[in-house]
Amino acid sequence: MPTKAPTDLRSQFPALAQEVNGKPLAYLDNASTTQRPAVVLEAMQCFYQHDNANVHRGVHALSQRATDEFDAARSTVAKFIHASNANSVIFTKGCTESINLVAATWGFQNIREGDRVLVSTMEHHANIVPWQVATERAGAVVEPVPIFDDCSLDMEALESMLKKGRAKVVAVKHVCNASGTVNPIGEITKLAHEHGAVVMIDGAQGLAHQAVDVQALDVDFYSIASHKVYGPMGFGALYGKPEHLEGMPPYQTGGGMIRSVSFEETIYAAVPDKFEPGTPNVAGAIGLARALDWVTEVGLDRIQAVEHELGRSCTEQLQDVPGVRIIGTAPGKASIVSFVMEQAHPHDVGTILDSEGVAVRTGQHCCHPLLDRMGVPATTRASISVYNNEEDIDSLMRGVKRVAQLFG
Ligand SMILES: Cc1ncc(COP(=O)(O)O)c(C=O)c1O
Repeated sequence: MPTKAPTDLRSQFPALAQEVNGKPLAYLDNASTTQRPAVVLEAMQCFYQHDNANVHRGVHALSQRATDEFDAARSTVAKFIHASNANSVIFTKGCTESINLVAATWGFQNIREGDRVLVSTMEHHANIVPWQVATERAGAVVEPVPIFDDCSLDMEALESMLKKGRAKVVAVKHVCNASGTVNPIGEITKLAHEHGAVVMIDGAQGLAHQAVDVQALDVDFYSIASHKVYGPMGFGALYGKPEHLEGMPPYQTGGGMIRSVSFEETIYAAVPDKFEPGTPNVAGAIGLARALDWVTEVGLDRIQAVEHELGRSCTEQLQDVPGVRIIGTAPGKASIVSFVMEQAHPHDVGTILDSEGVAVRTGQHCCHPLLDRMGVPATTRASISVYNNEEDIDSLMRGVKRVAQLFG
């Protein structure tokens, strides 16, 4: 399997063709945000240059073109995740807003005093805090589902927690941004449903690397972050099963989400408009749709093969450096490589890597409970994408060896 992303693919990303601190950029911060291919930038620019108008409100040509592109983008997202109906995709500001929407609306309607929300210990704060707020309001509780030392989810513990009853929600991420763990979403969902709970899957790190079929997985809710899958920032989506979305109250209110308004009575619009008040981010939707088309054109098989090979190479080389400990070694994990060095704090590691032109993330990755569980205050995280190559890993390793020498 080739370990190099072919140059034709890498060269599609304008941001990658730059030097940082006099060195070629090795961008290994993809779990934070990916870069965007030129086709995505062009699609968004094209909208603003030619079709810029508000959607769903005008009879003029530009408004109709904008509306057509906006609606087509929803269909593209729905097709990509195999949703049965485009209207089960709600556009949001991102994964965080998608989860907040569910916790505040479905949660408001369904979580009652004495209920339980089971949240995995590896969750991002975006899939913890909204549930804390929702349960606090209702007089319910959030309970952490334990993980093993390799950062995989303890499925037996989840089952026994479900068996205790009154679990309304199981909140789990598809792929862990801090450890790379890929959770068995289908299995988790089956178990949750057997015990009457719905599942909220945080898909922030899933879509760019894993095939997602929301119907086959039978998930109730799946959140999408556009900027983690080569699309624009500040945009995302929420998939919800139609039967849930129909019954949920609106999250925010205003223009565009109503059928009629009077001082006596306001009638809400149908899904998805009910959840999308105000002027939507049309360019965001167009950019996300173009990004998903780009992923389809490249092919998930190819993406996974390149990322897997580079992840393996990166992990093996890091393991050979004395004093390095990898955080997250679950079988079948994604190419997110978190590590600590006994010689140096992650912030020092990140600073030295930056001087080598290597972009990594250091810190707690919005996963305080996970890092507490692993007994580390912070990690350095190299996260790999399909446009990375063996030279990027070489640059990373040069920097890591320099840290070992300087601090060792
Ligand atoms: C696992 C996970 N969940 C949620 C988020 C938040 O996503 P967004 O930036 O779209 O709000 C992130 C982003 O770092 C993430 O990695």
